[in-house]
Amino acid sequence: MYVIFHENTRTFHLYNDDISYIMTIMRNGHLGQLYFGKRIQDKEDFSYLLETCERPMTSYIYDNDRTFSLEHIRQEYPVFGTTDYRQGAVEIRQENGSRISDFTYRGHTVSEGKPLLAGLPATYTESGSEALTLTVTLKDEVTGVQANLLYTIFAKGGILARSVQFANEGLRPVRLTRAMSLCLDLPDRDYVWQQLSGCWARECHIRNRTLEPGIVSIGSMRGNSSHEHNPFLVLKRADTTERCGEAIGISLIYSGNFRIQAEVDAHDTLRVLAGIDPETFEWKLERGETFQTPEAVMVYTDRGLNHMSQTFHKLYQKRLAKGYWRDKARPILNNNWEATYFDFTEDRLIEIASRAKECGVELFVLDDGWFGARSSDKAGLGDWKANRTRLPGGIARLADRVEGLGLKFGLWFEPEMVNKNSDFYRQHPDWILSTPDRSQSHGRFQHVLDFSRKEVVDAIYEQMAAILREAKISYIKWDMNRSITECYSSAWPADRQGEIYHRYILGVYDLYDRLTREFPKVLFESCSSGGGRFDPGMLYYAPQGWVSDNSDAVERLKIQYGTSMCYPVSSMGTHVSVTPNHQVFRNTPLHTRANVAYFGTFGYELDLNKLTPEENEDVTVQIAFMKKYRDVLQFGSFYRLMSPFEGNETAWMVVSEDQETAIVGWYRVLNCVNGRYTRLRLEGLNPAYCYRNSQSGVCCFGDELMYAGMITSDETAGQVPPDVTPYTDFESRIYVLEVAKP
Ligand code: DGJ
Repeated sequence: MYVIFHENTRTFHLYNDDISYIMTIMRNGHLGQLYFGKRIQDKEDFSYLLETCERPMTSYIYDNDRTFSLEHIRQEYPVFGTTDYRQGAVEIRQENGSRISDFTYRGHTVSEGKPLLAGLPATYTESGSEALTLTVTLKDEVTGVQANLLYTIFAKGGILARSVQFANEGLRPVRLTRAMSLCLDLPDRDYVWQQLSGCWARECHIRNRTLEPGIVSIGSMRGNSSHEHNPFLVLKRADTTERCGEAIGISLIYSGNFRIQAEVDAHDTLRVLAGIDPETFEWKLERGETFQTPEAVMVYTDRGLNHMSQTFHKLYQKRLAKGYWRDKARPILNNNWEATYFDFTEDRLIEIASRAKECGVELFVLDDGWFGARSSDKAGLGDWKANRTRLPGGIARLADRVEGLGLKFGLWFEPEMVNKNSDFYRQHPDWILSTPDRSQSHGRFQHVLDFSRKEVVDAIYEQMAAILREAKISYIKWDMNRSITECYSSAWPADRQGEIYHRYILGVYDLYDRLTREFPKVLFESCSSGGGRFDPGMLYYAPQGWVSDNSDAVERLKIQYGTSMCYPVSSMGTHVSVTPNHQVFRNTPLHTRANVAYFGTFGYELDLNKLTPEENEDVTVQIAFMKKYRDVLQFGSFYRLMSPFEGNETAWMVVSEDQETAIVGWYRVLNCVNGRYTRLRLEGLNPAYCYRNSQSGVCCFGDELMYAGMITSDETAGQVPPDVTPYTDFESRIYVLEVAKP
């Protein structure tokens, strides 16, 4: 990987084997964007890529030049209103009311590796040779505000990580009213915009739109990144498929209010902006203060969507997630939520855990309801002490009993919330986010603690740390079940209220940081009513997240398929739950529920005592299977083969790093009668390896499986011949392909 600066043409070229990113310092001192895409040869001069021409109704900077207008120039960190009429990446409101600024080049540095971003999650390097970081310093002379644009190019993969650091080096305070993490100006709009959208229990559905003149955007103003839109965008060419073609993925490492937008201008050029949502953001920058934006990661590929996803998977698995659990296969858990909801006693939990242990489960997780006066969702949040009626021996005794069974113990928290019916709220009624003289809306009867205040975060930290110190806890599920309303902090002055949403998230990150440092071996799973905050920011602290409250196997096909666009299998919390399913009341076969959940962290969300002995035997076999193959399932290369958004069948597969093992999941929603012969063309195998198919026992070379395909036809044709298990609705198969050793 290289970062070249051509002095004569004042051109930067960042490149590795996969990508080139080229910028130049323009004659007005601004940074212009010349190229982002597949790697091209380096040379001194690319200045002609900065096309300008004289156009009517355009405003110009220079008296003697009617071609140079920012309206028509691709830029790195543009400002609205100085001949550019598109939305800008930065806006600074000054004391005199002006919002105009003019950021010009002041210098640059190149350093090995990648710096940490203060208080924020970000990708990282473990050695200087993994990446180079270019920092370009721009300054607005009038305000004295400096903007350091950070560009990290990784040695491997078409990855560029970007963020911006502001420093007020002027004499007067200013207000940042827009501070996007990234601007990417592209020369054409011939892309399909692909977003991951949905709502509670229907997260990460893939939606596509074409780009027309004007603005399209996704975002959140809810305080959490949201079920509605994941902070992730793909721009793909019309002919791009999973296997080939150009795609640019843009992912924002942030868990709060965000916006990702694309603006197409009258000449069909495209401006992409990604960062903190400007609508709900305003940051006062006093003299001498700094502000760091979240990081945005751009991935370019010309090898199709699947390759783009694999690039994100590897990066996020190894250089975003961190800590003890990063590279470890995840424990198979049994969570009691759907088994008991709030209705449990210590003995009842032990009953569930005991049977789980017999079947091979490794971790028992006690969900909501163990603390304070929590007998329903109307009370208790904020009082993180065991409810002694339900758990007379407290969490420590329960944890000991669970450990005594040979299981690890995990516990649910919702640290950011409080019920008004709690001692914590009664002691600190002013510690919730709420606007003076306005109503205090609730969500699920709970209110959001003001995590912009250090003393609030400290108090919650103390409560959580006390339990973690006294009881044997190996896992924490960190939930967040409502979005923010009436956002206002009584601790901050009027002119700082625009900072609260962001300060709130910084408080959340701070609590995560403190807990993961003090308890480095505890496995954290993030959750927000399922996938309401399933984002890269969370992944930095919690290497896995509960993808959705919807655990129906059929619904999960779309949710997990969509999620895989950006996030690795090892990050997806996936459980087998009961039938009829509690969200859609559908009955799916037990094996299909497991076959979907294998492609994730895997666990059970039910009471195994309530299953039949035969089903318990099946569960035992499922768990043994997962233990044998979870390294491949969670850390292998993931390939999407058939999309649930396009038909009745879904298929995906993983391949181990040494290519000796591959596991294919095939799923069909509705049965069909006397259907066609079907084959799945596999991916990522070694053409020269001979693989034995666990279903048929047949051995085939990798090339045959990839090019001729693996047969998945239904042999029953609507009848039930002897010795053939009939297919049903919601059918699925797992094919394990292992290199046949002589
Ligand atoms: C929402 C989560 O997504 C569920 O799994 C469960 O933990 C409940 N909250 C508990 O209140």
